[in-house]
Amino acid sequence: MVTLFKNIKELVQVRTEPISFVSGIQMKELPTLKNAYLVVEDDRILDFGLMDHFSPIQADKIIDATGKMVLPTWCDSHTHIVYAGNREGEFVDRINGMSYEEIANKGGGILNSAKKLQKTTEDDLYAQSKVRLEEIIQLGTGAVEIKSGYGLTEASELKMLRVTQRLKEHYPIEIKATFLGAHAVPSQYKNNKGAYLQMLIDEVIPKIASERLAEYIDVFCETGYFSVADTELILKAGRKHGLTPKIHVNQFTAIGGIQAGIKYQALSVDHLEEMRDEDIDALKNTNTMPVALPGCSYFLGIPYTPARKMIDAGLPLALATDYNPGSAPSGNMNFVISTACIKMKMTPEEAINAATINGAYAMGLEKEVGSITVGKKANLLLTKPMSSYAFIPYTFGDHQIEKVYLQGKEINP
Ligand code: NIG
Ligand code: FE
Repeated sequence: MVTLFKNIKELVQVRTEPISFVSGIQMKELPTLKNAYLVVEDDRILDFGLMDHFSPIQADKIIDATGKMVLPTWCDSHTHIVYAGNREGEFVDRINGMSYEEIANKGGGILNSAKKLQKTTEDDLYAQSKVRLEEIIQLGTGAVEIKSGYGLTEASELKMLRVTQRLKEHYPIEIKATFLGAHAVPSQYKNNKGAYLQMLIDEVIPKIASERLAEYIDVFCETGYFSVADTELILKAGRKHGLTPKIHVNQFTAIGGIQAGIKYQALSVDHLEEMRDEDIDALKNTNTMPVALPGCSYFLGIPYTPARKMIDAGLPLALATDYNPGSAPSGNMNFVISTACIKMKMTPEEAINAATINGAYAMGLEKEVGSITVGKKANLLLTKPMSSYAFIPYTFGDHQIEKVYLQGKEINP
């Protein structure tokens, strides 16, 4: 099956040479081709170029993209979309003055979601989660990472990861799974965090690795949750079983977790709302991708990741939604890109790089998605007619996507 997109006003994020990610000043450059064509064969990008150089081909389907743009789909490298129920009650409590921390200390927060999830059957959890997956696909996401961490028992953590496995089998979107058993200390281990960690290390991690239920291991490294020493224990155990580290770190306090992530060669360090100069310095010249989650800052009213300072220091940056019921109940990457431009002063070029190629890298998918490159998966966005790609972040709260293609096939709403 060959599909031809012709008369594309602007083909965005064109990378002839494969790249892993962009950092610092390179993030300001977003290569494009104006008045272009793109050829897709089956699930991959076969060819692209300027309309002036186009020689007619036999295509099964021709899409006239006059006035419209084509981009790679968004790469959302940090979500928790497998969860049960919602927490709008806590949202109202916060409006009425309670803090996220106070709610968590009263058994709300992550423990509240865990209680709900433990009582939910695998089939019901799948049914609830697939609605969110379908929703983010419609919003232009073509690759997503999904974490466990609302189970907090062996059975429920495995249930979450099995649901993610089923989503992988049933949907054409790229999915990576992360084990986040160390997300909160469950109430039954309230005074015995060490025993909980030991149980994760001795029983759950080996099982997940042997059943190949996850690619990554994550920890919520934060004051009141898991210390740097706890984080190192879990990352080390994960690595031993072939799980690559990714951490939740520097969300509320900077306690040295970034350095621990780098020590264990984390693929990404995520949140980073609280960044000290030494944290920025530590990330220089590493293979660890910093990931900002502006939807979480927006929703909780906490500081935004200092993107300007980080990029100006030469670092790369990826953007993700953190889609979860407590701190970011939205999987809309279009909103994340807008918010990064409006609140974090990222340019549209930086934000689009952060939401495509850099996000792909943060999921180990930079060879498959994240740019318009021959041989990559044909996971594409066709926009509505627009004058420039800056219109995407400019029209905040809306989106400019006319059609989404995954593995070369149009996704029907
Ligand atoms: O990434 N920070 C830790 N975990 C999630 C939110 C957890 C929750 O409130 O349910 C996050 O923000
Ligand atoms: Fe998160």
